[in-house]
Amino acid sequence: MTTTQAGIEGFATEDRRFDPPAELAASANVREDAYATAAADRLSFWEEQARRLQWAQPWDTALDWQPPFAKWFVGGKLNVAVNCLDRHVDAGNGDRIALHWVGEPEDDTRDLTYRELLRQVSRTAHALTELGVQAGDRVCIYLPMVPEAVISMLACARIGAAHSVVFGGFSAQALVDRITDADAKVVITADGGYRRGAASALKPAVDEAVKRCPSVTAVVVVKRTGQDVDWVEGRDHWWADVVDRQPQSHQAEAFDAEQPLFLLYTSGTTGKPKGILHTSGGYLVQTAYTHWAVFDLKPETDVYWCTADVGWVTGHSYLTYGPLANGCTQVMYEGTPDAGGRDRWWKIIETYGVTILYTAPTAIRTFMKWGEELPGAHDLSSLRVLGSVGEPINPEAWMWYRRVIGGDRCPIVDTWWQTETGAMMIAPLPGVSSCKPGSAMGPLPGISLDVVDGEGTSVGEVGGGFLTLDEPWPAMLRGIWGDEQRYRDTYWSRFEGRYFAGDGAKWDSDHVLWLLGRVDDVMNVSGHRISTTEVESALVSHPSVAEAAVVGATDPTTGQAIVAFVTVKGSVADDISSGEAFAQELRDHVATQIGPIAKPKQIHITPELPKTRSGKIMRRLLKDVAENRELGDVTTLADPTVVNAISARASSQPAGGSPQD
Ligand code: WTA
Repeated sequence: MTTTQAGIEGFATEDRRFDPPAELAASANVREDAYATAAADRLSFWEEQARRLQWAQPWDTALDWQPPFAKWFVGGKLNVAVNCLDRHVDAGNGDRIALHWVGEPEDDTRDLTYRELLRQVSRTAHALTELGVQAGDRVCIYLPMVPEAVISMLACARIGAAHSVVFGGFSAQALVDRITDADAKVVITADGGYRRGAASALKPAVDEAVKRCPSVTAVVVVKRTGQDVDWVEGRDHWWADVVDRQPQSHQAEAFDAEQPLFLLYTSGTTGKPKGILHTSGGYLVQTAYTHWAVFDLKPETDVYWCTADVGWVTGHSYLTYGPLANGCTQVMYEGTPDAGGRDRWWKIIETYGVTILYTAPTAIRTFMKWGEELPGAHDLSSLRVLGSVGEPINPEAWMWYRRVIGGDRCPIVDTWWQTETGAMMIAPLPGVSSCKPGSAMGPLPGISLDVVDGEGTSVGEVGGGFLTLDEPWPAMLRGIWGDEQRYRDTYWSRFEGRYFAGDGAKWDSDHVLWLLGRVDDVMNVSGHRISTTEVESALVSHPSVAEAAVVGATDPTTGQAIVAFVTVKGSVADDISSGEAFAQELRDHVATQIGPIAKPKQIHITPELPKTRSGKIMRRLLKDVAENRELGDVTTLADPTVVNAISARASSQPAGGSPQD
């Protein structure tokens, strides 16, 4: 079975089950009764979890629910950074390592204790205040995987400013869109970072973007690689100049539980990325609880490693906020898995004695290709729990992860959630649940979901359909920045009174849940969400392109790969002598418009696109072509010969395949 993405009909489930290891079950943080307790009184359950945090003022009301708008822990006040740092130092754990940071170049490492991290965050909070940032403002963070990324996020939280982290793989244009939408005042960046064994630049994209962003009054630049950068006097500040001279202690103010904590932009089914808004109290309660429960975290002894970049939500909830709120020790790695050898990850696990690893199926499938000799040559016996996130994990990858990385002893927690949900929603509990390979099993305690058919009727205990959430949860998004209507339309209009996640799901005959991938126009490439419409808009913004249609085709490594079908304008058609060179030009154009992560793997230049008589592009057929399948029903096509022409060309063209970069 090689299913990674499949229609609801064709999805194969598994019957093998693995029980929790006895030792783990005996000492687990969470027991089976958590489900019943939470179901009996969901709000009390979440209040109980909220008491794990430090509140400057307790809440009066657990939940104020005016659908689709939720406020959690109403009246409560807290400081998120105090919960992630000061609290642990005050409890006598200041000398515990918070971050074992590992740079891509070998031997480039830094260890930061909780005490040191608190000092750095305090200085940065002072620096941001000096640069004019106030509570309620937005700060854009465009950094590689360096400790300053986490420090900047926490410094914003400390002063009540919301951060908007933009992944370093996005282009200047994507930065402009995000800075403008958020009206950000300050941008924090670096000269560059290390990736794939070389220094890459970041500041030029910021320079280009900020020219078009009048809201930005200051740019703070971390020196990471030492490469030359352009400089705008008065606007640009080296991190070391503006941060290092600040006082190392900072009196933190407590903010309302609903104080905005961050915006994170994500692709939707239409072109413009959405600024997903998360607030403070409920978000921190659920990220901290799930991180502790789902990984069975023991902060005194565990060494946790989440491989996600801070530019994505996993890097927010399970690299920054959840782990630090729980006071654990973690590894943060800057580079790619093959930098300094394809066994780099296994070396890191061995060196630091990593006990919990949280990564994505794409990475696991890549390691499977590289062969089990590489992990086999390292001592991975410190590992005790393995996690997966971002895309459906196929049973073979799950089994390989368990056997080769987990030594057949570590439970695997497949965790389903989204940028919008803020924290994990569906996952097994490692000391309680027996796991089926490839399944995220069921909703966590305190979470309520329902799989429904097209009419919104529950499919009951067994059956497939659309995944919906039918009760609010603490870490839920509070809206789309500046666009209330879009929030209602996108998430709450498809099924009355329910949040629709965009995913298909199926309960098997044991009432175990299987995630089936997106059912909308959002692709999932290596666990990164990219909308087909966004890539199409980027392609048609090229002067030679007339029309473009983009589909996500099943890919054995990346889950899905971006495949584009393009028609060119009549006047230029004859000038395109080399299809391959033109495809490369288009790929680069998409990289400029969105970022290298959105480059199509294949571009087919075709004379026409298949359309229905009413003029709609038939993506289903293009997907069949992209996946080399028999073509489905073509009877509704305006011109059925078009699709034959496309598939003939697609199989004869070199198609310009290039790996995603
Ligand atoms: C997909 C990432 C199957 C899903 C945390 C969702 C998954 C989208 C899983 C959100 C999983 C995430 N199994 N699919 N364990 N985890 N997804 O916002 O389609 O980047 O809607 O959040 O990823 O992607 P996002």
